[in-house]
Amino acid sequence: MVSKRTEDLIKWDAEHILHPYYVMGRNVGFVLEKGHGVWLQDTEGKEYIDIGAQLGYALLGYGRKDIADAVQEQLINLGATHIWFGWSNAKTIECAQKLAEVTPKGLDHFHFTSGGSESVDSALKLARLYWALQGMNKWKVICFYGAYHGFGGGTWATSVGKGNVWQGIGPPTPGFVFIPSYYCYRCMFGLKYPGCNMQCARYLAEVIEGEGVQTVAAFMAEPVMGAGGMIAPPPEYWPMVKKICDEHNILLIGDEVQSGFVKTGKMFALENWGVTPDLMTMAKAISNGFVPFGGVAINDTVYQVLKDHPLWHGYTYSGHPVGAAASIPTLNAFINEKVADNAAKVGKHMAERIEAEFMSLPCVGSFTALGLMIGLDIVTDKKTKAPFPAAEKENLWRKTIAAGVLARPLAGYAGNRLFICPPCIMTVEEADKMLDILLSVLSAVKPS
Ligand SMILES: Cc1ncc(COP(=O)(O)O)c(C=O)c1O
Repeated sequence: MVSKRTEDLIKWDAEHILHPYYVMGRNVGFVLEKGHGVWLQDTEGKEYIDIGAQLGYALLGYGRKDIADAVQEQLINLGATHIWFGWSNAKTIECAQKLAEVTPKGLDHFHFTSGGSESVDSALKLARLYWALQGMNKWKVICFYGAYHGFGGGTWATSVGKGNVWQGIGPPTPGFVFIPSYYCYRCMFGLKYPGCNMQCARYLAEVIEGEGVQTVAAFMAEPVMGAGGMIAPPPEYWPMVKKICDEHNILLIGDEVQSGFVKTGKMFALENWGVTPDLMTMAKAISNGFVPFGGVAINDTVYQVLKDHPLWHGYTYSGHPVGAAASIPTLNAFINEKVADNAAKVGKHMAERIEAEFMSLPCVGSFTALGLMIGLDIVTDKKTKAPFPAAEKENLWRKTIAAGVLARPLAGYAGNRLFICPPCIMTVEEADKMLDILLSVLSAVKPS
């Protein structure tokens, strides 16, 4: 039995609010109201441990007074101003300066947005413009099957869920070409790492050449796939791909909207392999998700071509000073509190426990982990790798939440990855508590 207040909220919500990635006219049946650290609380006072940092952005957890104070101060000083027509504001400049301290060397020119989809749109346009301004008509962008790049202009680069997200909204924007990703467990080439000779990376070169080098603007991908399943690549992947992009004269757009900012144990995921993209999209954790904010970091080569040309692109909230104000203490906390190191330490501990205790379960087919981007393949049969049917997935999800772990439904390319991507301030003790709950839920699963 829930209180009348909760009951009314749930009912009103279901009738009036359309939830992304959920059946319209329904909700999950609880209402969140408070948060502290890695814990969330609903209107009934029930506490949940946060396994997903919301959508991968609340990496410092909840109840951060430093961010709240900075936001409040900015709201009072100058709650809104834009940066169109060359206008500037002090907070956004300060934020860009801080960002330049944490972005990989050479990526220190910024275009600001209010989220990841806008960052992707901007990167796509800037990449094409870069070539156009040099007299070249290179417009195609190569992406992964199973990737997620948001629902703006990147909608047609977002093929997660085997085309589900494209149903009923065509026609598609032309110009996107797809290749298999580094999802080894379900390798589209039917190969096995490491005997595969990294066919997925090599194939990029073949596709660029097949499409015509003179038509391809960029390869855009997530360094570690997020919504596609929390999938980390083999270590050879990114150095090989960077070399292929350079040799074929195409830009590399690293979509770090999900993988960026400490969660892989480095400030940005591509740093794990010493690779620097030409354009890098950011959002989510940049402001701990407390205020929508994002951007694209642009390297000097691209910037020098763009410079002195008008930018016929931008968003009303580009460079919003309140988003910038939230981002500065967030970035400071990442550095001062050594949050990337904590993500690496806690992630390693979790990976060791998953290997030792979860992999023997009949429903756990495989997992990959890099820092606190961890994904488990949940299967009905380890031999066939068949994913759970929809009803069983729903059942598992509800059991996990009822047990006090606020998870998202199984998702990813085949719709069967369990995401573990908690706030990166999580302690080993909290991680253990979460894993104990997950282990007991998954141990009780009887795949049919
Ligand atoms: C890799 C990636 N790119 C882009 C986006 C879109 O970001 P937003 O939802 O903030 O528009 C997401 C969102 O999850 C993402 O994971």
